Amino acid sequence: MKIDVHYTPLGLATGDLTGRGVVVIDALRATTTVVTAIANGAKAVIPAATSEEAVRLASNLEKDGVVLAGERKSVKIAGFALGNSPREMTPAAVAGKTIVLATTNGTPALVSTQGGDPVLVGAPANFKALAERARALLAERGDLAIVCGGREKQFALEDAYTAGRLVKAIRKGIRKLELNDAARGALALVDEFDDWAEALKASEAARQLADADLAEDVEFAARPDRFGVVPVYADRRIT
Ligand code: MLT
Repeated sequence: MKIDVHYTPLGLATGDLTGRGVVVIDALRATTTVVTAIANGAKAVIPAATSEEAVRLASNLEKDGVVLAGERKSVKIAGFALGNSPREMTPAAVAGKTIVLATTNGTPALVSTQGGDPVLVGAPANFKALAERARALLAERGDLAIVCGGREKQFALEDAYTAGRLVKAIRKGIRKLELNDAARGALALVDEFDDWAEALKASEAARQLADADLAEDVEFAARPDRFGVVPVYADRRIT
């Protein structure tokens, strides 16, 4: 059995994930936002690689049921209804709606995993349910890829820490498990922090969010197991 972690999607070539079980993590904040939207009743979330693509995708859908959401430099994109804050994904805002979401790192990472089967969306917010699902997938396939959104094309502490926690949770009781170097690094990171909040708050992304007056999103994202849903990305939609 084998688990590969990728700290960013940049090293992935076309076909690398085809037919493989994949978990995508962008803890601050894109995958936390997606998990929250789906848990609060969104019909689907459509990830877009850019804000322009989000506008184009939204224009092809029924206007009534569509909500444009996304951020640039943590701040809501001008003209979009919602930003990328999980706290905005309330039942009142998202239930029954299709959210077209464009973020700096998380949604491009999701788009880059097309071909994975299945592609699970993970965050601390759905960690327990995610770990159960990912463990079952590994047992069934013998292989799992964990793709982190990263930050500005680089390693992101909060994503690598979440990936490490996931590797640790999944590997319990498995005797022969091969890990790539990034998975070993992520696993080693787990012992550097006492808990989710300490790890997430130590990240550069958390500092950027605090500077944008969005520190409450870090608190939100750092509380594990808020939701029991594990959204799946297939055919360009997360449901
Ligand atoms: C991203 O996708 O890069 C992040 O979710 C950025 C953010 O905090 O909005």
